[in-house]
Amino acid sequence: MENNEHNKKYDDLFTPLEKEILALIIKAKVLNDLTEIKNKYLSKKGEFSILMNKIREVDDKKAFGEAFNFARKKLESAFNEKVEEFKRLALNEELQKDSLDITLPGNNFKSGAMNPFYKVKREIEDIFVGMGYTVENGPEVDSDKYVFELLNIPKDHPARDMQDTLYIDDNLLLRSHTSSVQAHVMEKANGKPIKIICPGKTFRRDDDDMTHSHQFAQVEGLVIDKDINLGNLKATLELFAKKMFAKDAKIRFRSSYFPFTEPSVEVDVSCFNCKGKGCSVCKGSGWIEILGAGMVHPNVLKMSGYDPEVYSGYAFGIGIERVAMLRYGIDDIRRFYQSDVKFIKEFNKKVED
Ligand code: PHE
Repeated sequence: MENNEHNKKYDDLFTPLEKEILALIIKAKVLNDLTEIKNKYLSKKGEFSILMNKIREVDDKKAFGEAFNFARKKLESAFNEKVEEFKRLALNEELQKDSLDITLPGNNFKSGAMNPFYKVKREIEDIFVGMGYTVENGPEVDSDKYVFELLNIPKDHPARDMQDTLYIDDNLLLRSHTSSVQAHVMEKANGKPIKIICPGKTFRRDDDDMTHSHQFAQVEGLVIDKDINLGNLKATLELFAKKMFAKDAKIRFRSSYFPFTEPSVEVDVSCFNCKGKGCSVCKGSGWIEILGAGMVHPNVLKMSGYDPEVYSGYAFGIGIERVAMLRYGIDDIRRFYQSDVKFIKEFNKKVED
């Protein structure tokens, strides 16, 4: 039976007290007032609760019970509503006290910046990936076979002197150039065409001075296919120079020597600072040396299972720090490795401006 459908025969019995209590509940100012009301009227022995005892004196006990419960529920819900109201008020007060002072200046979040070395590394990768190269990786600790032998540098070859490095034992060493990855990739390719770059760390017994470090990084490039010629190499490196340094950059080849390429060339880029007139960046010559390259030596092709009568290829090795130093006018290679936040930030500004 619903509350509002109850038998109303005894309602009058409860109305006066009910009204009195309701008025008190409405008037209550603090939670304590409610506690008092509860104790006095609504607890087990409260004045309202004990009205129930009168049930003994009436004939229609069911109607009495219904009337009592109807009144009790009304009081309870009024009481509970008031409790909730006080809780809300208390919470609001609390929140008001705790509110944030948004006029206080905040703590600045210090964000990092990318080292110029990595910016240039990624840029070089992007340029070559855009030309269809895939990026390969190889071991930094490698065996004599891959770092030297397969690159046409047998034991006791004088070229080893230029690439002295740290040896783990007679056979294992820190690679002195990324050309070692050429040998690994050719071995895996099993006589198939290749078009890769490999960026990575290299180690060499170099005097540590402003422009040299015992550890530096190169990007190796290797293309092997039928009908690859020096013209392809030149076009590739010229496109690289234009994208990396200046839209109107030119390159020139000077003949050089590497045991694993024949012919071998040193590659210069026209000075992007003075446009070839001669300045301090190009030391007055109008040209800046940027990398070594050449056509893959027939011995190298043969040792890795390519017939030099059918296949030809080119290779190049770009020094990442060197490109970054030229590109951003950094004069000391050691700055890349010092984790000097001031340097990195300063540099980032330059790039973003
Ligand atoms: N490996 C050479 C060096 O470290 C660079 C190079 C790579 C030259 C590929 C020619 C071809 O100096």
